[in-house]
Amino acid sequence: FHTLRVALLGHGSVGSEVARLLTRDADELAQRVGARLELVGIAVRRPRSDGEGGLDPALFTTDAMGLVTRDDVDVVIELIGGIEPARSLILAALEHGASVVTGNKALLAEDGETLSRAAQAAGRDLSYEAAVAGAIPIVRPLRESLTGDHVRRVLGIVNGTTNYILDAMTTSGSSFVEALDDAQRLGYAEADPTADVEGFDAASKAAIIASLAFHTRVTIDDVHCEGITGVTSADIASAADMGCVVKLLAICDRTPDGQAVAARVHPVMIPDDHPLASVRGAYNAVFVESESAGRLMFYGPGAGGAPTASAVLGDLVVAARNRLLGVCGPPERTHAERTVLGIGEA
Ligand code: HSE
Repeated sequence: FHTLRVALLGHGSVGSEVARLLTRDADELAQRVGARLELVGIAVRRPRSDGEGGLDPALFTTDAMGLVTRDDVDVVIELIGGIEPARSLILAALEHGASVVTGNKALLAEDGETLSRAAQAAGRDLSYEAAVAGAIPIVRPLRESLTGDHVRRVLGIVNGTTNYILDAMTTSGSSFVEALDDAQRLGYAEADPTADVEGFDAASKAAIIASLAFHTRVTIDDVHCEGITGVTSADIASAADMGCVVKLLAICDRTPDGQAVAARVHPVMIPDDHPLASVRGAYNAVFVESESAGRLMFYGPGAGGAPTASAVLGDLVVAARNRLLGVCGPPERTHAERTVLGIGEA
């Protein structure tokens, strides 16, 4: 078997699971890819003297830039999150010829254009299934499977932490603070859970979804965003009296004149018998309505180490296969390398 070298940035709840599975499933992944995937380094913020999770301590480094610019690295997996240094590391990795797999929704939603231009210029894959709705395959369906159709609307629960909190407040009478503590302990929340509860995490995902669904560039600044910090137990109780539950929804559609894209995130009261009402815990669900396909629903675990690692490994296998073939996946062709939101569908 040929060997492809993989560098991992970040060793949090998702990164550590990716490292564990890469090691445990090395033989099986080699069969699926047609090459062995060798983990050559893990960049972490603080030095580690002991190996974690049975990993060789020599794999850990605090020199992330040194790791991504190694000449022998084929794929860089970025799981540190945030804007910097993640953006500089991804750009450096692409310039040095690596393919990139990332789960960084905040960066994609703020500056996805710079990343995708760099990937196109380098002729390398930039894949990010893990950035939206954890384990649920939604990026690839929007980017590839539905790209011949006309998406009309996307509607979804795309943040596991807030769904977990609203669900716990609804069904077990937990307080907001208790439920948030649980979501953090279970590894659903972002390092700074403000991004979850204020809706920014869902807004980032809405920006990515809208960009893919409508072939344009939507950034987080374009997304109207209201989180769940203003939702009280009394709101939940009065919703229940009306036969409804409160959910944080991301809604991406076109403006009434059809000329622009609108994306927003806010709490919504939905009837108990609506399919989205039964999305429990940290699960996510995304409805896509398109002209020819009709209504599609994607449903599954939306947060957490193992589910998100599943999406990362899927992207890794595809990126590795593409390396062997000397190709890269579909580029992000938008109608609008034009103006953000000022689009018309071709
Ligand atoms: N904090 C995010 C969530 C993780 O709760 O959905 C997955 O992106």
